[in-house]
Amino acid sequence: MKTRVIFLGPPGAGKGTYASRIMERLNIPQISTGDLLREAIRNRTEIGIKAEEYVSQGKLVPDDIVIEILKQRLAKDDCKNGFILDGFPRTIEQAKALDNITHIDLVINLVVPDEIIVKRLSSRIICKRCGAVYNLITLPPKKEGICDKCGGPLYQREDDKPEVIMQRLDVYKKQTAPLVEYYRNRGILVDIVCDKVDTPPEEVVDRIIKIMR
Ligand code: AP5
Repeated sequence: MKTRVIFLGPPGAGKGTYASRIMERLNIPQISTGDLLREAIRNRTEIGIKAEEYVSQGKLVPDDIVIEILKQRLAKDDCKNGFILDGFPRTIEQAKALDNITHIDLVINLVVPDEIIVKRLSSRIICKRCGAVYNLITLPPKKEGICDKCGGPLYQREDDKPEVIMQRLDVYKKQTAPLVEYYRNRGILVDIVCDKVDTPPEEVVDRIIKIMR
């Protein structure tokens, strides 16, 4: 079983949606650098204060900050049997740093057209309390504005505004897409093409788990 896994893909590709479901099914942690940064921003930590201006504008947070956060997270006990990295690495510099921290078994590359991404992100809502992700069009909560899992309030992310979405897509193409070749050349990357807006998440999750096995 391949349990040290990276999820690569543009913003809105479904990294968080699939990683959170696999975490529940296989009992390995989902590590989202985006979530870690948003938590630091909420708690007004030194790192959070530094990261805020980048995240709100859809730019990448400097490598040294993110690498340090990731290193600390991977050192925790729950990562001993594996992990899913959701949103890390995002630059060649981060990938090289990761090579020095741990070994990676598998990279899942989610390939999703831009039109689907823009639709998904502008209709995404997230639970303020537990972080569960919904979509007003494709995955609505049972009760409007309320999380199915914990009853917390649902909100739209600051960086899911149309102008910031376009900036994040541009950053992905320039700074993160080169990682596809970086890992393909190592023979550990598998493409998952999701070009239909209505493919149920569980269908994609089943495909990914099969590849991990
Ligand atoms: P981060 O939080 O990582 O955002 P992202 O990569 O832009 O990814 P998203 O969380 O937006 O999308 P996702 O692929 O997880 O999609 P989701 O599953 O939610 O990063 C945010 C910011 O933090 C960055 O811009 C940067 O500033 C900073 N940052 C983070 N990591 C960094 C790093 N390593 N280095 C530097 N800076 C860093 O799905 C999207 C929507 O689609 C949801 O509504 C979902 O319900 C819906 N959906 C998905 N799949 C399906 C499906 N099959 N069927 C129906 N609906 C679906």
